[in-house]
Amino acid sequence: MHTTKIAGVGHYVPENIVKNADLEMIMETSDAWIQERTGIKERRWVPQDSDDTPSVMGTKAARKAIADAGLEVTDIDFIVFATLSPDYYFPGPGVMVQEQLGLPEIGALDVRNQCSGFIYGLSVADQFIKTGMYKNILLIGSELHSGGLDKTTRGRGVSVIFGDGAGAVVLSRAQEGEGKIHTTKLHSEGKHAKELALLGPSTTNWVDAMIEAQDPEDLSYYPYMNGNFVFKHAVTRFQEVIHEALAELDKKPEDIDLLIPHQANLRISQFIQQKMGLRNDQVFNNIQKYGNTTAASIPIALSEAKAEGRIKPGQLLCLAAFGSGFTWGSSLIQF
Ligand code: ACO
Repeated sequence: MHTTKIAGVGHYVPENIVKNADLEMIMETSDAWIQERTGIKERRWVPQDSDDTPSVMGTKAARKAIADAGLEVTDIDFIVFATLSPDYYFPGPGVMVQEQLGLPEIGALDVRNQCSGFIYGLSVADQFIKTGMYKNILLIGSELHSGGLDKTTRGRGVSVIFGDGAGAVVLSRAQEGEGKIHTTKLHSEGKHAKELALLGPSTTNWVDAMIEAQDPEDLSYYPYMNGNFVFKHAVTRFQEVIHEALAELDKKPEDIDLLIPHQANLRISQFIQQKMGLRNDQVFNNIQKYGNTTAASIPIALSEAKAEGRIKPGQLLCLAAFGSGFTWGSSLIQF
C-alpha cells in the first residue's frame, strides 16, 4: 500500500472585488449586518462578460498547484473536480480541465458534494494513489456562484454569503518520510437535502413546465438556504467529524497544528474553535476576503496558509467541511 502526500497547492480568485458597501447599493442590507452575522467584508464576483468559468478558474489554480509541486502538466494522470456550480448542467468541468491543460486522454471525475466536495474528492484521490492506480492526481475545487444568485433584497440571506474562486492541489505518491494523508471521514444525511439546495430547473422541476409557467415568483432557479437550521447542524457536525478523525489517530485537539475549516461563516469557525479549545494560531480563516466559496474554500485557504508560512512540512493539518446534502467530512494530514 502506498501513501499520499499533498505535493503542491495553488489558487486563483477573480480580480473583481465586491465589498459589502457595494451590496448596499443593490439590495437592502448593511456592512454591519453582514460582518456581524458572517464576518465577511468582501468577496470576488466574476463580471458577466469575463472569460472566467469554473473550469477556467480551476485550470488557473491547477497550473499553480502543478508548478508548486515541481511537476510538469504531463505528470498528472487523473483529475478530480469538485463543484456545485459547473460550467454546464452536463458534462461536468473535469473534462474541460483535461482539454484546457492539453493533457492526454486521462480520466476526469466530477464530485457533487457541495461544501464537502473537496474532502470527498481528497478521499477518492487518496484511495487511487494508495492502491497504486495513479501517481499524481489533480484535485480542484472551483465555484462561480455570482452568476446564479438572487441579488435583490429577496435573496439577501443567501447572496451576501457566496463568492467565486478556485483552489487546487496535486496529490502524489509519497516516499518514506514525506507527508501523508492519515485519514478522511465522510458522512451524509439526505433527509435535509432541501434545506440547502437549488431545485430547478432539473429532472424534478421540468424545464418545459417552468418555461410554460413563466412564473416570476418561482424562486427555484436560485439557491435556497434555511440559514439557522444549517448553522445549528454545522456547528455540531464539524466538531463530531473532527473528533472522529482525531480519535482514529489517538490525537487531541491540541495536537492540531492548523485547522482549516470550510469557510461557511466566520461565526461557525469561531464557535468550533471555542468549543474545541483551539488557539487563534491553530485555526485559519479567510472568509473575510472571499465569502463562502463552497468546494473551493478549503483549497484556497490551504494555498494561502502555505504562502503565508502558516503550514510547514511535518505539521499536522486538519481539514473539515459541512454543507448541502447535508454532507460533511474531515481529514488529518501530515503536510
Ligand atoms: N442583510 C440584512 N438583513 C438580512 C440579510 C442581509 N443580507 N439576510 C437576512 N436578513 C434579515 C432577515 O430578513 C431576518 O429579518 P427578520 O428578523 O425581520 O425576519 C433577519 O435578518 C435574521 O435572518 P436570519 O436568516 O434568521 O439570520 P441568521 O442570524 O440566521 O443569519 C446566516 C443568516 C448568516 C445565513 C446564517 O444562518 C448562516 O450563516 N447559516 C449557515 C450558512 C452555512 O453554513 N451554509 C453551509 C455552507 S453553504 C453550502 O453548503 C452550499
